[in-house]
Amino acid sequence: MRVTVVGAGVIGMTSALAVKTNFPQFEVHVISDKFSPDTTADGSAGLWSPYLLGNTPCDKILQWGGITHRWLEKFWKAGLAPEIGLSLIPVYRVTSDPNGFPNVSIWTETVYGARKLSSSELEKLNAECTTSYKHGWMFLTYAVEPVRLLPWLTRQFLEAGGKLRNRKIHTLNELIDDDGCDLIINCTGLGARELAGDNTVKCIRGQVARVRAPWVMHAYLADDDDGNYIIPNTDRVVLGGTHQENDFDRTPRKEDCEFIYTGCHRILPSLKNAEVTKEWVGLRPGRHQVRIEAEVCKSPKGREVTVIHNYGHGGSGVTLCWGSAMNVVNIVENLMNLKSNL
Ligand code: BEZ
Repeated sequence: MRVTVVGAGVIGMTSALAVKTNFPQFEVHVISDKFSPDTTADGSAGLWSPYLLGNTPCDKILQWGGITHRWLEKFWKAGLAPEIGLSLIPVYRVTSDPNGFPNVSIWTETVYGARKLSSSELEKLNAECTTSYKHGWMFLTYAVEPVRLLPWLTRQFLEAGGKLRNRKIHTLNELIDDDGCDLIINCTGLGARELAGDNTVKCIRGQVARVRAPWVMHAYLADDDDGNYIIPNTDRVVLGGTHQENDFDRTPRKEDCEFIYTGCHRILPSLKNAEVTKEWVGLRPGRHQVRIEAEVCKSPKGREVTVIHNYGHGGSGVTLCWGSAMNVVNIVENLMNLKSNL
């Protein structure tokens, strides 16, 4: 059985590793024109936190997110933190919406020690940050830096016998007819617009900055439309961020820098003294819901291949990656059982 995974971001590499380790007898190739450190995930802070997921069903977020959180916990306990850029950090997640957070159980059930901020804690935070948050939660969760996680996943995949190929794929037919694979796993993120012809995938532009601020211990994430965030990684702090829909501009913009620095300095004034080391833009793959399902595709030449789609993770690629990959493995298992029962 020859499996081709298209896409080498965090969704592609976790899918490839999960399939190769669960089915060692398969020949698994990852094909992409972009590998780490040039993928969409590479500049992100990798905080476990469901974010920009459209109407993805809560039970799916709980399932995929829970599996991923436990996967990260296993690495934490195994001492892999320095190798994969994993930190366990306290998070303040706040909102100015008087109705509070929608679907709060999605993340409060999965993270550690989630508790609602009291009104006096909110008052203190608002006084310090000159904000007007109405609700807030505090909890502990993981951040895993994709720029370190991706090379590690790639090494694991190669050691398991997987292969990497650098090539731009435009259409599924190109693969079905020329590549000779028996199964395709489509992890192309925003590229699924072109590859799978899925116009419901929309670009959500995210601009962030990285600063040197080793004194920052907590993450802050404001869920408002114009909300900022501050997320400490191993040796940098990520300041965010924008989420502009249908904006494909990969160049950092001055006005977005101003929005990020003004908002983050208001939350944490000591950041004014932090050296900026990088400004970066990533194009998130937004969709009305994450798509993980199998589809049989037929090329104009008449060859039929099953495609398992795994894309549309918005701002939650890291948060849902291993759970999504395990969902792909389950689909492969079902396909194999179907075949052997024929
Ligand atoms: C982001 O996509 O910018 C993001 C994702 C999770 C937590 C915070 C930010």
